Amino acid sequence: MTMRWVLASRHVSRANERKTRIINDMAATEDALNARVTLRTIRKMMVEGRRFACLTCYDATTARWMERAGLPMLLVGDTLAEMVLGHDQTYYAGMDIMVALTAAVRRGAPNVMLMADMPFMSYQADDAEALRNAARFMTQAGADLVKVEVDRSFAPLVEKMARAGIPVVAHIGSRPQQTKLAGGYRSVGRTPEEAMRLIADARALEAAGAVMLLVEATPAEVAHEIVQGSTIPVIGCGAGPACHGQVIVLHDLLGLTDWQPKFAQPVADFGHELVKAVKTWMDKVDRNDLGEHPYQMVKPDGHDAAPHRPAAPAAR
Ligand code: KIV
Repeated sequence: MTMRWVLASRHVSRANERKTRIINDMAATEDALNARVTLRTIRKMMVEGRRFACLTCYDATTARWMERAGLPMLLVGDTLAEMVLGHDQTYYAGMDIMVALTAAVRRGAPNVMLMADMPFMSYQADDAEALRNAARFMTQAGADLVKVEVDRSFAPLVEKMARAGIPVVAHIGSRPQQTKLAGGYRSVGRTPEEAMRLIADARALEAAGAVMLLVEATPAEVAHEIVQGSTIPVIGCGAGPACHGQVIVLHDLLGLTDWQPKFAQPVADFGHELVKAVKTWMDKVDRNDLGEHPYQMVKPDGHDAAPHRPAAPAAR
């Protein structure tokens, strides 16, 4: 075996290793892209008549479990003001906390379709400010969609956002950011005139470039009419069974709220489970039942009795 031959064969095997690594990396990227839920995934579900579920989420740990459940879409709603911050309305969700918690949800659930709610006065005052705020959700928080509570008077804004490459969900019907003006929460579209207005809103906002509609608290037949006349996915929130997808507030579903709307009845009793867990911990503390103690002093000769504890995983 000559030296030249040895060097040449080493070069070939290194090149092969590199090629294998590149192929594996490409396969991993492709897997990740395939796993990621995109607008195309949701549109395909709509075309195939498969309903998609969506829930609100406001933190990384919960997001991780929701993605593990196979949920395709999460909404970081401005209901964060109520569920996380303890306010009685959604007005109090500011941009900074919405962006920070949207980013947290994205870290917890890297593959879901992530919708971020644009909070009160982040898009109503000025179009340029609206575009920049929407861009923050996309670039700083990894959101796939931004949601704005609108009627057709906002069509020019939706058009500008779409032109800039921002995927907009137009939230129509009951709009919680209008609650103070309306004198409380109310369903919308219950008279023929209101129903016609709502249907016209849906048409105008789709024509302006919205990629999805979210219809809240509307009679089922009005939502049905909206779905019939749309080519984009329609998510219902108390809008009946015609919608392609459905969204509700997670805390309602889990039984963590003291009151839930009729269309968002709990399927679990996490509130009382939490009370039970807290009481168990109180009881353990009371009995001084703390389990095995993990830390020992290092011996004078420098010997560490427990030097090889596994490192904490990247995420708890
Ligand atoms: O903010 C929110 O959680 C919402 C849903 C209830 C639709 O807008």
